[in-house]
Amino acid sequence: MLKGSKRYFIPIILVLIVLGTAKVFGWPWSIDMWEQPSIKPYELPLPYPPYSISTDGTIVDLGPRQKFEAITQNPVSPTNASLVKGENLFKTYCAPCHGPEGKGDGPVIKKGFYPVDLTSPGTQARTDGYLYAYIQYGGIVMMPSYRESISSNQAWNVVNYVRKLQGKLTATEETSQ
Ligand code: HEC
Repeated sequence: MLKGSKRYFIPIILVLIVLGTAKVFGWPWSIDMWEQPSIKPYELPLPYPPYSISTDGTIVDLGPRQKFEAITQNPVSPTNASLVKGENLFKTYCAPCHGPEGKGDGPVIKKGFYPVDLTSPGTQARTDGYLYAYIQYGGIVMMPSYRESISSNQAWNVVNYVRKLQGKLTATEETSQ
């Protein structure tokens, strides 16, 4: 016959074993926050749900950029809708370097980056496709490609907006639908 506190020893051990094996009340409590649906280190991720965007998809090869540089006429007309979309994209992706008016005076340039004025006569004389290719392929020297963020159609909207900044669109062109 066990005496005093020793009497509770065996029942307590039994209770602890039951709690430990059956995970009653989320025992052990010290790690119960760990048991959740999120992906843990070194655990294989769950398959992506259907129609979600794959992060390991292949990028379609566009072929040589000269093919686009030869396009003289933007296939997307410079409607107001196109220019508004182009302006938003330009302010997001291009203005940091080329400046809000495309003059090559964005905040990144001021930190010592190579300035390019998109309203210069040189860039004005480029084909629409040349500007488009710059967005899709990136620069020949150091400008990054925006193909992963800007779709083909959006890139043509940006080209329209650059033409507007260059003062190359007539009022009728801008308002035509
Ligand atoms: C990180 C800075 C940076 C950003 C952002 C940037 N550019 Fe550029 N861009 C440059 C530099 C530097 C050059 C010239 C050197 C080169 O070819 O890389 C250039 C050159 C160009 C040219 C060629 C001009 C010519 O006459 O040869 C075009 C067109 C152009 N950028 C358009 C854009 C557009 C449109 C965007 C936004 C989608 C954009 N750039 C975003 C840095 C940038």
